[in-house]
Amino acid sequence: MTLARTRSVSLVGVDGWVVDVEAAITSGVPGLHLVGLPDTALSEARDRVRAAIFNSGEDYPNRHVTVSLCPASMPKKGSTFDLSIAVALLAAAEAVPPQACADLVLIGELGLDGRVRPIQGVLPAVLAAANQGCQTVVVPRANAAEAELVPGMKVVSAATLRGLLCLLRDEPPPVEDDEDDGPRSPADGFALRQQDFSPDLDLADVRGQAEARRALEISAAGGHHLFFAGPPGCGKTMLAERLPTLMPPLEPDTALEVTAIHSVAGTLRPGQPLITQPPFYAPHHTASRASMVGGGSGRVLQPGAVSLAHRGILFLDEAPEFAVGTLDALRQPLEEGEVRITRIEGMARFPARFTLVLAANPCPCAAAKQIDCSCAPGTRRKYTSRLSGPLLDRIDLKLELAPASRAELRFDLEFAESSQVVAERVQLARERTLRRLTGTAWRSNAEIPGPELRRRFTPPSDAMVSADEALQRGALSARGLDRVLRVAWTIADLTGHDEPDADDVGGALTLWSAGRQ
Ligand SMILES: Nc1ncnc2c1ncn2[C@@H]1O[C@H](COP(=O)(O)OP(=O)(O)O)[C@@H](O)[C@H]1O
Ligand SMILES: [Mg+2]
Ligand SMILES: [Zn+2]
Repeated sequence: MTLARTRSVSLVGVDGWVVDVEAAITSGVPGLHLVGLPDTALSEARDRVRAAIFNSGEDYPNRHVTVSLCPASMPKKGSTFDLSIAVALLAAAEAVPPQACADLVLIGELGLDGRVRPIQGVLPAVLAAANQGCQTVVVPRANAAEAELVPGMKVVSAATLRGLLCLLRDEPPPVEDDEDDGPRSPADGFALRQQDFSPDLDLADVRGQAEARRALEISAAGGHHLFFAGPPGCGKTMLAERLPTLMPPLEPDTALEVTAIHSVAGTLRPGQPLITQPPFYAPHHTASRASMVGGGSGRVLQPGAVSLAHRGILFLDEAPEFAVGTLDALRQPLEEGEVRITRIEGMARFPARFTLVLAANPCPCAAAKQIDCSCAPGTRRKYTSRLSGPLLDRIDLKLELAPASRAELRFDLEFAESSQVVAERVQLARERTLRRLTGTAWRSNAEIPGPELRRRFTPPSDAMVSADEALQRGALSARGLDRVLRVAWTIADLTGHDEPDADDVGGALTLWSAGRQ
């Protein structure tokens, strides 16, 4: 009996585990047997591996071959094990030196012609291999740039099985055509619109709307959710799309975390492996619940819009047009900062810590002036009440916008601050926040849990007069108070106060209470 071993990674959501792939050749009926809980896709691997080996000009061992993936209890999905199975099998047949591949982690799908095809999720898989002490990975050539983002990992890229075998045998590489089949699009074709980070957008484009601009600045500085209500054409979409221009670039560890999610989703742009700017996701209002929070039953579980917007912005334009179920599905990720999808094979986890921005017209007919509105009063009320109380209760900053006046539209240009000026203030405020939160797991005021907030970050009592009064009137709930306090800290950080004063708390209270019917 001859034995050989390689390794691969089993990926569930964005979490990966290194899997040992062992091949044994024994006497018995010729055939390839895969053991270790393979799903359908993995059984298909048998046929792909056989064809790929044959079409790479290798002798297929016409013997009894057993390939075992262990630990057997680990869920194994998808086609990412093809390469590790093929190499383990050939090493067991002594077609490649077993010691050359025993410690390699091989990730990749094989085409029937022996080409190594790109897969989704290479970055989180390689991150997992690195965390578990592996030093060398073999990945599809089209995914190499992504794998190279992982510090300290030696990355070998393979375009064909034949090329990889030459490398393992220390032979000169074959001549390969440089055909690039590029990254694959998400399997389920979710209706998502990714706004490219556009250097053309600038806050200075918006005239007037001082309060809304200020709210954007507070949101960017503290990570607070935001709701713009107002008549069509008053600039809601325009304002929301400029929020990313106020946010600092992602920290290196966060950039990897964000990129890992997009790697699984297959939404990384070729030639730009690392996402460094906060993502901006604006799903269409026809988006399904699954496209919002993730799911699917295909080969790979797809992250939803809430995860694609992780560490960035999820913008729901015309929010009342979304299905109620889709909106309700937002509550869990808003509360917990991640999505968990349970399937028979196990539980997938996708981070989902985003800033939610909602925009809404006052009624479905979207008349620019209330006088032109053709909706019955009941319809108007019903329209806005589609945004449920529990959802709006999670929004710290709520504004009712009026159209900018003609004078503002004409003359405000020279006074309007640019994104760069505001982004610098945001950066300073964030630094102040981080200094205060040193030694905690939180990076922004919006992330501080309620009990901690009340224990460690209570403003002085003379600053709390307006909030106390609102509590007494019943206009503010205990949960609402937490939200007001977090915003008050962000306003203090933006103003340079060591702690919120009465104006900061009052300002936060106004922003919390506005837009409530
Ligand atoms: N305050 C403003 N400053 C500059 N342009 C504005 C302003 N408000 C509206 N506009 C113009 O009106 C258009 C419509 O704005 P938009 O953001 O789509 O409105 P809404 O989303 O509220 O319906 C914008 O593309 C812009 O040209
Ligand atoms: Mg709009
Ligand atoms: Zn109307």
